[in-house]
Amino acid sequence: MKMPRPTTLLSALTFVAVLLICKVTFSIVLGYRDYFPPIFKADFLVGREAYFFGPYEWAFYTHIVSGPITLALGLVLISERFRRRFPKWHRSLGKSQILLVALVLSPSGFWMALYARMGEVAASGFAVLSLVTAGCALLGWRSAVRRRFVEHRQWMWRCFLLLCSAIVVRVIGGFATVFAPEAMWIYPCAAWTSWLVPLVGYELYRFANRPPKKAIAMDARHFASAAPA
Ligand code: HEM
Repeated sequence: MKMPRPTTLLSALTFVAVLLICKVTFSIVLGYRDYFPPIFKADFLVGREAYFFGPYEWAFYTHIVSGPITLALGLVLISERFRRRFPKWHRSLGKSQILLVALVLSPSGFWMALYARMGEVAASGFAVLSLVTAGCALLGWRSAVRRRFVEHRQWMWRCFLLLCSAIVVRVIGGFATVFAPEAMWIYPCAAWTSWLVPLVGYELYRFANRPPKKAIAMDARHFASAAPA
């Protein structure tokens, strides 16, 4: 039997991942019927009436509006093909993405984390996620400004994977509802694993595909000889 080529396998996996992201984001946005105006009988809003109006309301609405936009922008921005064909669009959408993630989505996620259900483990998982996501976006911006594009791509990939935790956490939630509806530990656990697992997976992938030492040394020599005296 002929094995599929690694690139074919990677394209197939990318296709499935993009489909999953689009499908879950679509169902998240469909759920907004319960939020405009807020229905306190709806799943997520049950028991939140006491503190909803005020700062939480601001955080909640800015978060649920910016969330799907950052996921959609992320999908476009990580596409190599898009960047090559539309470099100016990549640059301006990229700036909007970094501003949205660092100044809107992450701070609102942090605020909401303070009120997360199921205790401190879940709350701290989301709070750390918000800080790490904002950090990756800002480091991605800094490396782009310094024209370190390899580094820039790595930071923005991390940022995108962290945004995808919103998808992963719901996939875990879906499985939990079917297979372990009574397991209260799953949500706090998902608040950490939904972003730590993809992030560690990415670092392992990078490590496994790192260029050989010889090539790095040759590159360094090439840059040293090309640099002005
Ligand atoms: C920096 C990344 C993110 C952080 C730190 C974060 C954090 C949070 C937190 C703490 C909550 C409340 C959880 C609770 O009270 O149990 C929440 C809810 C929510 N988040 Fe995020 N989030 C992030 C990314 C996203 C993205 C990319 C989306 C896009 C779809 C999104 C959409 C939502 C929605 C719609 C809710 C309301 C609950 C629901 O309808 O399921 N979040 N988020």
